[in-house]
Amino acid sequence: MILETSFSLKKILETKNIPAPSIHMVLGSGLAPTFDKIETPAPFEQIADINFSEVDGLLTSTVKGHTGSFRIFKNKDNGKTISFQTGRIHGYEGHDPKIVVQPIVQMALAGTNNFVLTNACGSLQPHIEAGSMMIIEDQVNMTGLNPLSGPNSTDAEGKEYGPRFLDMSEGFDKELNKKLEDTLKAASLTPHRGTYLGLNGPNFETPAEVRLFSKWGLEVVGMSTVWESLALNYLGKKVAGLSFVSNMGCGLVSNSPLSHAEVEEEAQKSSPDVLKAFFKFAESI
Ligand code: HPA
Repeated sequence: MILETSFSLKKILETKNIPAPSIHMVLGSGLAPTFDKIETPAPFEQIADINFSEVDGLLTSTVKGHTGSFRIFKNKDNGKTISFQTGRIHGYEGHDPKIVVQPIVQMALAGTNNFVLTNACGSLQPHIEAGSMMIIEDQVNMTGLNPLSGPNSTDAEGKEYGPRFLDMSEGFDKELNKKLEDTLKAASLTPHRGTYLGLNGPNFETPAEVRLFSKWGLEVVGMSTVWESLALNYLGKKVAGLSFVSNMGCGLVSNSPLSHAEVEEEAQKSSPDVLKAFFKFAESI
């Protein structure tokens, strides 16, 4: 899972004299396009914008609204840095899970220990409405693929980066999730809680699939996140998760067709407030 070139982001940060961010937040479909439209809240100032194309081993995303860069901010009060990732690569673009997880793997290897993974998703339960949010308490990886498959990764001295058989009893860190939830609640953005089902896509689920997954008791479904959380847990990092419900699963309330435009539009409604809350949350890490 660790590519030969994967220390490149670490080197870029070192060259720019930027300390490893205390937290890295991955912004999915809804949040990334809003990022440039909000003013940076005090006490933060942006100190770097590192495009994926500048970093060895990273591919740029082909999805509209997912360009791919690391935005690094400094807290002017204490000198700590935080990072936002605008955009990510997806499996449905045809890439191997090991390539898909490279941006967060590189940030992890640069020394960042806390991560927030966000995504757009479809609801599998009537009480989880379009436009709402959900703290990811756990996940089901039904992609049939895993970034950790293959020989266990070792460093230059031959030391394994993480365990061969990874424990996932707390794949999403309870404490970090609670802190994120409390920050959102304080901003009147009360999220649901539940389990995220990760599939490959790129098709949205059929009504029969939605009925099945709903009966299994899963809350939401999407096409990202599950590989990243596996990779980060493998590297011993803490992960919080937040899903943005852009639509109801097909057939759950109606049989009308779904579109990517609808997904983007719904997820962007609350995004300025959510991004401000993320800066607040990052300040507390
Ligand atoms: N299914 C899968 N992925 C998604 C959906 C969905 O309904 N909405 C946004 N991402």
